[in-house]
Amino acid sequence: MSKLATKDYDLLLQSARDILRHAHAPYSGFKVGAAILTHEGKIFTGCNVENASYGLTICAERSAIFTAVANSEGGKLALRAVAVVNEKEVPCPPCGACRQVISEFGMDTIVLFKSEAGYQELTISDLLPSSFQFTRVDSNALAKT
Ligand code: THU
Repeated sequence: MSKLATKDYDLLLQSARDILRHAHAPYSGFKVGAAILTHEGKIFTGCNVENASYGLTICAERSAIFTAVANSEGGKLALRAVAVVNEKEVPCPPCGACRQVISEFGMDTIVLFKSEAGYQELTISDLLPSSFQFTRVDSNALAKT
């Protein structure tokens, strides 16, 4: 049973597939597309953008989330779901960096990705338990540094 309504599930996967052809992946040849659904019901998409210096590459998931932040009123972004697809249709759960960024916008966010057993939905708290959250940092300790 999907955690998402069928129309959201289908729209997320379709939106992620639609953005795939925009990916800039000349080094890996691995094109990735992501689509996010916000709690307000808006969809934003992103693709991976690679760079000749390799380390500057950004994943599709973060690209989609940063676009959403740039188009949301300050501090108001809350994620309902993130879907990620790749051109080769191979298993592709989000990388650690993307998990941390997703967790910033809601620990209940549903992540829809291709696993060994087909498309799977897990929450980001399942995928990234005990993530670093700024609210847990002692602000006094920070102020002294
Ligand atoms: N990539 C993503 O865009 N998302 C993921 O979840 C995993 C990896 C990209 C980064 C790089 O451009 C290519 O896939 C190969 O690692």
